Amino acid sequence: MSKPGSHSLTFVLKDHKELENVFNSHQRALLARDIDAALGLLTRFQDALDRHIRYEEDVLLPLYVERQAETEGGTLKLFQAEHAKLREFTDKLTELTARLYGSPDLAGEILAIFDRETMFKGLFSHHAMREETILFPRLDECTTAVERARLLRQHVH
Ligand SMILES: [Fe+2]
Ligand SMILES: [Fe+2]
Repeated sequence: MSKPGSHSLTFVLKDHKELENVFNSHQRALLARDIDAALGLLTRFQDALDRHIRYEEDVLLPLYVERQAETEGGTLKLFQAEHAKLREFTDKLTELTARLYGSPDLAGEILAIFDRETMFKGLFSHHAMREETILFPRLDECTTAVERARLLRQHVH
């Protein structure tokens, strides 16, 4: 099995890292009870996640399927289901964060959000790992350097 990062689609890995960084900033804002910043950063995370997922679903996954690179634990259906779950979860976190305004028990609700976010981070890292160990290296194997350069050009940050 390939190690994470042992492929040349490293620009997609950078997305994962950036998403984690924005999410971390959101959690720091929550910790500081800065609701405006926490919500703003979560919205930024949501937008970036949306762009990232659209790139994977519109550009990477169709090619992955076309080249018959799907495998157990790395099927189109599985990636799509995880994307849907991540989106749904992010919507829920945004709703809960927005509800902090005027909350009678701010500390209690922030703690409850952190609990949910721990689950979310687990889901996110599990998904990212699946892509980094299956999707990206397999896509790397069935594409040429020229094709990968095209994939990079289609990638919007
Ligand atoms: Fe993904
Ligand atoms: Fe991804």
